Amino acid sequence: MSNELEFNQGVGKYLQEARKNLMEQEEIKRRTSSLKFDTIAVHGLYSIDEAIIRNQGAVIEPLYLATSQGYRDSDELEAAQAYLIPGWAYTRISNPTTYYLEQALALLEGYQSGYETSCAVTSSGMAAINLATEPFLVKQKEGPERINFVSSVQVYGGTYQLFSVRKARERGLEVRWIEHPEELEEWKAKIDENTRFLYVEAPSNPRQSFCEIKSLADLAHAWEIPLIVDATCATPALMRPIAWGADIVVHSLTKSMTASGLAIGGAIISRRPIITRLKNPDPKFKENFAEYLKFWPARDYGSAISPFNALLILNDLRTLRMRMDFLSQNCLKVAEFLSQHPRVSRVDYLGLTSHRLHSLASKYLKLVDSDDGRGQPVNRYGHLLSFRVEGTPDNARKVFDRLRLIFRATDLGRIKSLATIPAISTHQQQGEEARRLADIPPQLIRLCVGAENPDDIVEDLNQALNYL
Ligand SMILES: Cc1ncc(COP(=O)(O)O)c(C=O)c1O
Repeated sequence: MSNELEFNQGVGKYLQEARKNLMEQEEIKRRTSSLKFDTIAVHGLYSIDEAIIRNQGAVIEPLYLATSQGYRDSDELEAAQAYLIPGWAYTRISNPTTYYLEQALALLEGYQSGYETSCAVTSSGMAAINLATEPFLVKQKEGPERINFVSSVQVYGGTYQLFSVRKARERGLEVRWIEHPEELEEWKAKIDENTRFLYVEAPSNPRQSFCEIKSLADLAHAWEIPLIVDATCATPALMRPIAWGADIVVHSLTKSMTASGLAIGGAIISRRPIITRLKNPDPKFKENFAEYLKFWPARDYGSAISPFNALLILNDLRTLRMRMDFLSQNCLKVAEFLSQHPRVSRVDYLGLTSHRLHSLASKYLKLVDSDDGRGQPVNRYGHLLSFRVEGTPDNARKVFDRLRLIFRATDLGRIKSLATIPAISTHQQQGEEARRLADIPPQLIRLCVGAENPDDIVEDLNQALNYL
């Protein structure tokens, strides 16, 4: 933020107007954050007043496709460009439709966490992961510096590539992989004074690994570094890592948040403030990380989402909680079926009581605002599972090729059931050694269960497996 005194006198009247607007916005945010999760998901910050005063009464958030904002005079232009007054300027920086999505996501991810949160939305999940991690990887002093970060190896294949190829091989940064993210001792052994952040995916795609988020956040904070969690597969309807101490949450909005499968997007939600010992001249870096990202690095990288996509995502978000409830129940039925099938050697789904991480995951994965009738929240585990077909990799391909209802696609989080073989698709680029580390053999099929009747999904899997 620039010093106000440097500006033309006429800027003053816009500052006064801006202060009034900001106070009103803060009041709407305060009021909205006291509502229940579903209400926030349905309305976000788009109140009746907002609709009537600013948007001609439109009940649904309007789609602002314009690339830029016009100003009343040079004073307003100057104040807006210096971020002295709220505005959106240019869609690469900000946009009114995207704003509504960001505000809704910040409130949902921060729901009942006790923290204020902010959000920056990006063009994809990968853009969000890059944007969230990059500011921590800058040099802090002259001369050689051996920067490292510690990450679970159980991450989406694209994330593995970003860390191992783009950041480690091409830039000389060190990534220290954790093979068993649930084991705190492994993390402890890898952190030192040059570690910039800890990174984990929970539950992970496709292996359903999980970790003790609270202890990991405490460990990170003991070193004065942030914990970044990719919670794409859980969504805030099932888990909100900030409430457990995480500093930053990243999402591929492309997945369960936009189950219709009509838009690509990503999000970074940070708590205020984040824990970091890194020096940055901008106080917002620590105080309001997501907003810092949005107004500075993202503006330069050009990672903005299209407002059209933002609206599609916003629209799907309204039914997030009920969808995750329903889809999780479907997935559990399918997982139970697969775990009994003689041609299946193993099923990884955190909702199965037989899964070795079931009780750990049960501590964290709870349907928001649910009640089991005895005052306890209801556990739900999402709609992603993986299973291994008995025998050779060729057997897995035969079963996969035989599916008639379930789509073969490198995607997940859809309202329609989808399956892929990660070793030849999402996790192909990372090579055999990295797949061995992450335990992703070619017999493993990843299945994301949709909203079809689960009997039909089971029947499709059954006919494909019985073909062997
Ligand atoms: C857990 C997870 N994080 C991030 C991503 C990347 O998201 P996007 O495809 O939106 O870039 C994916 C994609 O599959 C994912 O599964």
